[in-house]
Amino acid sequence: MSRAAPLLVPPGVLPARVIDALAADGQPVVRTGELAPAPLPANERLRAVDAVAEALDGQGLSPVLLLSPGCMPLAQDLAFWASRDASHPARMVMRAPDGAAELERPGAVRGPLEREPWSEPAALREPEPVTIETERLLLTVGTPGQIEGYYHAIVGTSMFDNLLWDGPSSVSDLLSWRWRSLRNFAKGAACDANFGIIEKASGRQIGGCSWRPKPTDPALGDIGYALAPAFHRRGYGCEAIGALVDWALSERRAVRVEATVFVGNAASRGLLEKLGFGFEGVARARVSKRGRRIDEWCFSLLPGERRRG
Ligand SMILES: CC(C)(COP(=O)(O)OP(=O)(O)OC[C@H]1O[C@@H](n2cnc3c(N)ncnc32)[C@H](O)[C@@H]1OP(=O)(O)O)[C@@H](O)C(=O)NCCC(=O)NCCS
Repeated sequence: MSRAAPLLVPPGVLPARVIDALAADGQPVVRTGELAPAPLPANERLRAVDAVAEALDGQGLSPVLLLSPGCMPLAQDLAFWASRDASHPARMVMRAPDGAAELERPGAVRGPLEREPWSEPAALREPEPVTIETERLLLTVGTPGQIEGYYHAIVGTSMFDNLLWDGPSSVSDLLSWRWRSLRNFAKGAACDANFGIIEKASGRQIGGCSWRPKPTDPALGDIGYALAPAFHRRGYGCEAIGALVDWALSERRAVRVEATVFVGNAASRGLLEKLGFGFEGVARARVSKRGRRIDEWCFSLLPGERRRG
């Protein structure tokens, strides 16, 4: 039996008796002041919806958006922010402008909410991710198809031996990651920027990389990166991470870019040194991987230190 989705109810939109009836019917009801029935000023409200969606995360439920006609222009944005991933799209319910119990559906039957609730999956309008272009690569958020291909290129490979991440357990892990990445780009510069690395010639996703600003000071941050093993040693690492660092320095106004590397990961160290990163020392027992404490090499790069060619 499929579980009912929580209904996000802004105060004053639905009469208490309707909410009670829904709750009595097994419909989880989340009472929230975050979704106003009036036209919504975009960012703050969307972020509030995001916060509600985050709070519901992990419950395997998809939110229901209750919309007044005034909210309709924002329905697609709201649906994006309320949905946690593509497999849990938000549904929307629209109410009439003047009577909380009346539903309005353009060109369709009207009826009291108790008798004939109208709802349907909300069409999603995904925000545009940032895209960085190099000679052979695009750094962007891959399409679901590209991400599925990437899953098959990396699962079960040695790519994770030198990463904290042990890899995705399914394609949907990566699709959730894609969703979070799109949200983060929409939220702005204080959030992690996660890019898929796309080979232009084939259209395949061959890797991923991130700029992760520190919450306390977004001008400082660290980078992470990995390429599917089949694409190593073709200069793609240098090309992609060089472009990521340039972007962080110029677009995110980074004043210090850090990178930490498991001691012994010569490929990663070589890449960083080729880009101009300076070695700062060893942080002992800094991380744990597969039950073992590991030392890390620490690197950093300041504006003006970037090496090319
Ligand atoms: C690290 C990684 C991204 C390098 O990508 P890549 O595309 O193979 O690197 P490039 O071809 O651009 O090489 C750049 C430089 O890195 C160094 N390098 C790359 N692979 C190397 C290897 N196997 N051994 C030693 N140095 C190596 C070299 O200095 C190279 O410069 P060169 O070609 O002039 O000799 C890739 O090995 C990888 O994804 N590894 C698995 C995940 C990982 O370790 N991520 C980093 C975690 S900190």
